[in-house]
Amino acid sequence: MTSLRYKDKVALVTGGSRGIGKGCVDVFVENGAKVIFCSNDDTEGQDLESKLNSKGPGEALFIYGDVTQESHIKKIVEKTVEKFGRIDCLINNAGTHPLSHTIDEFSAEDFRKLLDLNLINYFLFSKYSLPHLRKTEGSIINISSLVNQIGQAQAVTYVATKGAITSMTKALAIDEAKYNVRVNSVAPSSIWTPLLDDVLKSVPNPLEAKQMCANSQLLGRIGTIEEVGKACLFLASDATFCTGIELNLTAGAELNYGIKNMRKQKTSAN
Ligand SMILES: NC(=O)c1ccc[n+]([C@@H]2O[C@H](COP(=O)([O-])OP(=O)(O)OC[C@H]3O[C@@H](n4cnc5c(N)ncnc54)[C@H](O)[C@@H]3O)[C@@H](O)[C@H]2O)c1
Repeated sequence: MTSLRYKDKVALVTGGSRGIGKGCVDVFVENGAKVIFCSNDDTEGQDLESKLNSKGPGEALFIYGDVTQESHIKKIVEKTVEKFGRIDCLINNAGTHPLSHTIDEFSAEDFRKLLDLNLINYFLFSKYSLPHLRKTEGSIINISSLVNQIGQAQAVTYVATKGAITSMTKALAIDEAKYNVRVNSVAPSSIWTPLLDDVLKSVPNPLEAKQMCANSQLLGRIGTIEEVGKACLFLASDATFCTGIELNLTAGAELNYGIKNMRKQKTSAN
């Protein structure tokens, strides 16, 4: 029998009903943790909660909430402590990737809404969880993205939110070190989730796009949500000398030269 690596510890995962957040919830419960997870999808959340509780060995509790609402965030953190008495790890994950556009098609309002969802949400969950994390000398894990390091075409607002998450991680790591609270980020490249599926379905040839997406990694495949969950468990339970780092979960996507010429080719007609 394998040993349980987060037994009786309490993890709070945002956006845990599907995708990367679900991968984290699954792995932490498999390792004996008590996991509170929130999402704005009630049916998905309830289903996952009952599946995990019938399997164990840890426990899961789902709380419905919209992470763009400060009052919901406060309530979720309060309920976590009411139910389990402590928080050992906060995984900030809930977020989205808008469909591809250049800056010409994004409005300031689109950007403000995305900042609320992708960035301010992480800030507020951290703010309200930290008084509890300081007591347990716990840790925060922020799901960022590889694109904060290498950029991404037609994703100027998304990339900006992810860059801010990675920078915020480092600043918070400095301030919280005096409490022995560690703050790290994870930078995935392509992970197979409903969000990635939606993004790929929005392009003219989704099958070809999925293959190109897999080929963007040196290992020639898209990552799994369990692989992200395991990396987060490593940061939460084993990486006790890591703070302010970004763990790349990319199968080498950022390495080597590629075909990157974006200039329009000159033809005899122009
Ligand atoms: N999938 C990838 O390839 C990939 C790569 C890099 C980074 N990421 C990041 O990982 C995180 C999760 O992405 P995913 O692909 O799993 O997405 P997903 O859409 O598959 O899952 C997102 C989760 O967040 C929840 N959520 C979304 N908006 C919410 C809101 N307003 N209130 C409460 N919950 C809300 C959803 O209910 C769901 O549980 C995001 O921060 C994303 O930027 C994903």
